[in-house]
Formats: sequence, C-alpha cells, structure tokens
Amino acid sequence: MAASSIDSITTRRELALHYHELASPDQLTPAERQVWEAARAATAHSYAPYSHFHVGAALLLADGSLVQGTNQENAAYPSGLCAERTALFGLAGNRPGPPPLIVGMAVAGRPAQGEFGPALPCGACRQVMLEYEVRQGQPIWLLLPSVSGTVLRFERLADLLPFHFSADALPPQA
Ligand code: THU
Repeated sequence: MAASSIDSITTRRELALHYHELASPDQLTPAERQVWEAARAATAHSYAPYSHFHVGAALLLADGSLVQGTNQENAAYPSGLCAERTALFGLAGNRPGPPPLIVGMAVAGRPAQGEFGPALPCGACRQVMLEYEVRQGQPIWLLLPSVSGTVLRFERLADLLPFHFSADALPPQA
C-alpha cells in the first residue's frame, strides 16, 4: 500500500528518543566515571567460556555504593544470564523488601583477550532493567559504550524500550 493511502486512514505518529553522546569517558562526571570504571572492572569476573565476550554491569545506589554483575554462561547456552540481569537480580534477590534506590547504571564489554568495545543491552535485559525503574518510581541513568566508540548517556531506562510489556497488561490479581 502506498504511504499516501495508508496515511489517509491511519494516524501517523513519531517517537523521539533522547540521549546524550559524549566523545569520550573523560567528559563524564566523577560519579558517572566511577560507575563506568566499575562496569569495566567487573568484566574480570565474567564467566564466558562459550562466547568469549566478557560483559560487566555496575549499579550506583543512592547511598553511594556500587553493585556489579557479569555475564554467566552455561554449556546449555540459553541457561546463561547477561551481566545487567545478574547485577539487578543479585541486588534485589539478596535482601528482604524492595531493592535499594538505584541512581545510575553502566555496561561494558570486551572480548576475552581484547579491548573494550560496544556493549548495548539486549532486549530481555532492557525489559528487566525497566521494571526496576518503574518499581522504584525514579529514573535510572545509563551509560553505554557505542559502536563508534562514544559514550551514550540515557536519562532514564524507559527511553531504551518504548512500548514495553508491563504489568498493566496482566489481569487483575485476586
Ligand atoms: N551479554 C550480556 O551480558 N549483556 C547483554 O546485554 C548482551 C549480551 C552476554 C550474554 C552472553 O554471555 C554474551 O554476552 C554473548 O552474547
């Protein structure tokens, strides 16, 4: 169907995606830089004997502490878990009550014997990350190393996953 005819019977909408691009990590604030470095340092603890891609994630909590996570692979490939979810589940699954407030997050990735490169969260991780932001009712900023070597800074995780699945779709709980 030609664009003009579908436009006549539907409402065309557009989405704007907001983020900042930094030429170098040197432009990060001291707090951001700390999280950025913690994500890179975490890659040392990755277990990636199958993909040989070592991923680290770091969370900055409101009390100033850092929580790290790494990808953990398995011989049954789908049973492994990404660094972002390891960090979040490790934080939230280890204490009673709601997780502590998360302020910011960073991700890093590198081959086993190589330099740091791009590390963009997969769709499943975006879904999980967003639920923690929704749950705490406060935005979580995110730093990602881009494909071109720059730093992408998102103000909120919601910007990574428009039209996400949420509890709103689920039937009312008894
Ligand atoms: N991986 C992550 O840890 N985070 C992502 O967002 C993308 C992929 C891991 C999963 C697997 O261990 C390896 O990277 C290759 O896909």
